[in-house]
Amino acid sequence: MNDRIEAVRQKALADLSAAGDPKTLEETQVRYLGRKGEVSALLRGVSSLPVEERPEAGKRANALKQELAKAFEDAKKRLEQSLGKKTAEGIDVTLPGRRPVLGRLHPLTRVMEEICEAFIRLGFSVAEGPEVEADYYNFEALNFPPEHPARDMQDTFFISEKVVLRTHTSPLQVRTMEKTSPPVRIIAPGKVYRCDSDITHTPMFQQVEGLVVDEGIRFSDLKGVLASFVQQVFDPGTPLRFRPSFSPFTEPSAEVDIGCVMCKGEGCRVCGQTGWLEILGAGMVHPAVFENVGYDTQKYTGFAFGLGVERIAMLKYGIDDIRRFYENDARFLGQF
Ligand code: DAH
Repeated sequence: MNDRIEAVRQKALADLSAAGDPKTLEETQVRYLGRKGEVSALLRGVSSLPVEERPEAGKRANALKQELAKAFEDAKKRLEQSLGKKTAEGIDVTLPGRRPVLGRLHPLTRVMEEICEAFIRLGFSVAEGPEVEADYYNFEALNFPPEHPARDMQDTFFISEKVVLRTHTSPLQVRTMEKTSPPVRIIAPGKVYRCDSDITHTPMFQQVEGLVVDEGIRFSDLKGVLASFVQQVFDPGTPLRFRPSFSPFTEPSAEVDIGCVMCKGEGCRVCGQTGWLEILGAGMVHPAVFENVGYDTQKYTGFAFGLGVERIAMLKYGIDDIRRFYENDARFLGQF
């Protein structure tokens, strides 16, 4: 019996020191000290011994039980300590904190701010107006007569026959001039809507319209303002050019290109081998628009321009699909 007790003792101590995690330690303890464990079996075995051997064997078996109970308790404490100084609640106060993920401005918000700041530095103030707009402001007052084919240039969402989702922020020209007399120097940033969707168009996008009216405003003033804008928002030294174009509310009208930001004018896939990228429309305010707001066309002249914020952002950051801006993919947005 003594040999058996010693054998169990050796085995139990060896298993105990091999148990490297709380779960294994607990299982080992149950295997020896549990109700059906090996030590309990030893104790039960004492009663089947010859009477004269029982007291000695019983004492030894009990001593082993106590020894192992203490050894398991000690082992548990050591293990807990080595597993990171846990408190009673299991919170490790020594672990470094987890950093919260910080949000950031959407790339379009940043580009919109940058564009507005460039014009604000040139003395422009900001005008805002409704996205659900009267046909009158969106088209008619801007010299798009009813049934005029120029209306087809913009795929309009109609709310009713006389109410639309604004297709551009140009209505702010008229809304501003109705309320103030010259000099006028405003930009109108905001959301606009067109029934159009592909890699360069989304049904909602953003524009910044500009309008300057005063005595003696000339096309060269328009050129100076846009040249300054391009130098501020794109790399300094970026060239720009004006191409004749058509717009009902400006005459003459122009489309403005900048030297391709990808190939620096060499010709590449992005600029269709031309070396130039279109960034906005502009022109001298048509006298018909002045007449609609009661401005004296003999006294005042002005220029206007309109640009797309998404387009500027795509060129600035080399993004080839406008829809990326609106997919809310944090891996994309996190790069800006
Ligand atoms: N509103 C025009 C558009 O959305 C852009 C534009 C063209 C604005 C010429 C202007 C301009 O002020 O003169 O397509």
